[in-house]
Amino acid sequence: MDKFIIKGGNPLKGTIPISGSKNAALPLMAASLLGDSTSIIKNVPRLKDIYTFNNVIRVVGAQVDFKDDENTLTIDPSNVNHLEAPYDLVRKMRASFYMLGALVGKHGYAKVSLPGGCAWGPRPVDLHLKGMEAMGIDISLEKGYVIAKAEDKIEGGSFKLEPSSVGATVNLLLASVLKAKKFIIKNAAKEPDVVQLCNFLVKMGANIDGIGTDALTIKAVNNLSGIEVSNDPDRIELGTFMIAGAMFPGSELTLTGCNPEQLGNFPDKLRKTGTSVDINGTTINVKAPDVLKPVSIKTEIYPGFPTDLQAQWATMMTQAEGASKVTDTVYFDRFSYVPELVRLGADMDVEKNTVSISGKTPLTGASVMSTDLRASVSLVLAALVAENTSEVLRIYHLDRGYESLEEKLTAVGANIKRVEED
Ligand code: EPZ
Repeated sequence: MDKFIIKGGNPLKGTIPISGSKNAALPLMAASLLGDSTSIIKNVPRLKDIYTFNNVIRVVGAQVDFKDDENTLTIDPSNVNHLEAPYDLVRKMRASFYMLGALVGKHGYAKVSLPGGCAWGPRPVDLHLKGMEAMGIDISLEKGYVIAKAEDKIEGGSFKLEPSSVGATVNLLLASVLKAKKFIIKNAAKEPDVVQLCNFLVKMGANIDGIGTDALTIKAVNNLSGIEVSNDPDRIELGTFMIAGAMFPGSELTLTGCNPEQLGNFPDKLRKTGTSVDINGTTINVKAPDVLKPVSIKTEIYPGFPTDLQAQWATMMTQAEGASKVTDTVYFDRFSYVPELVRLGADMDVEKNTVSISGKTPLTGASVMSTDLRASVSLVLAALVAENTSEVLRIYHLDRGYESLEEKLTAVGANIKRVEED
């Protein structure tokens, strides 16, 4: 297991290219299995979750070729013959549950392990299953596996997601595009990852109305063809580096290969802290203020403030002059990073789904433990501004969602090294 050794206190200066999005690529990989021919997906990040999903897709019999030095993934679904996603792989990466919609949607049968919980809570998939039942798919549970069965064509109908869910919207789209005569997903997720998936499916030949809205109407077609696309840039990686550029006086970052439109109200929130955010086509320049102003946020579904940036924002607020609050309305208990930041000297207090932060507090290097993807990157951000040296343990969490993190940070002046844990 690796850890990071970080010597804090360097302003970050220079250019960082933004990688392809993990959360946008995963639905496309599942959707490729609905085609009669090969799909090619470009701008796919070299991340552990992508490698895991490649193996999940190989298990069902598809040919997967990932030229990772070119970030290009080729998926040939023509020999799919084993309609099962095993626990051993699904437990490593929840989005493997997209195999349920893809396999039953294409082959009328699927046996997929339930994903189980995660570092910050139960994360149920009840809406995925209830939505499929509402569509006319037969769902049963057996020894921790979901078994889904469907006739060639099913009537469909409609289902309202409460709460709105990215994963359930993705799975219901995958299950319905070849199966449901007419199906309406109400209160559908509007996240850019979902919009990219809809556009991908339509380019394959699917019939979907209402793309980008919270009401998606799907009418089944008889077949879909493989296509070639370029995956969206990672808006969460982008937001993470924008925060890194704001946290330490004297920092100035140029972020390239971005899609600023996908950031919702995030740039305006960041500007309220006194940070200069200059958007120029697909490039964003961020310049740290001498004094960060405290700005409270509340996470929401898209286009609101993303839950995947709340830990990073709370970390930045430890360096703001004054008090602020961070409330997560999507995940109520996603605060496992707080005790670790307190170890570095932060003044934070969690009550229900809100953390209260008092700043500015000088941070001092210490050993801290990663618990999940976004929590661990917030520890890296804190260590970058802390005095002396920190070690961030269990960074395998980071490797799931940040491509070449230490190389990108070193290129802009950070003192960060990856070493093996003792
Ligand atoms: C996706 O997870 C992302 N993962 C998450 O990013 C992200 O935090 C989340 O969307 C919200 O934006 C991927 O795209 C792979 P949801 P997902 O279904 O689809 C409840 C990261 O850091 N819910 O939109 O699992 C659920 O408990 C990851 O990259 C049900 O109650 O999230 C939550 O409170 C972490 N029943 C809310 O809905 C269900 O059946 C939103 O979850 C499904 C969800």
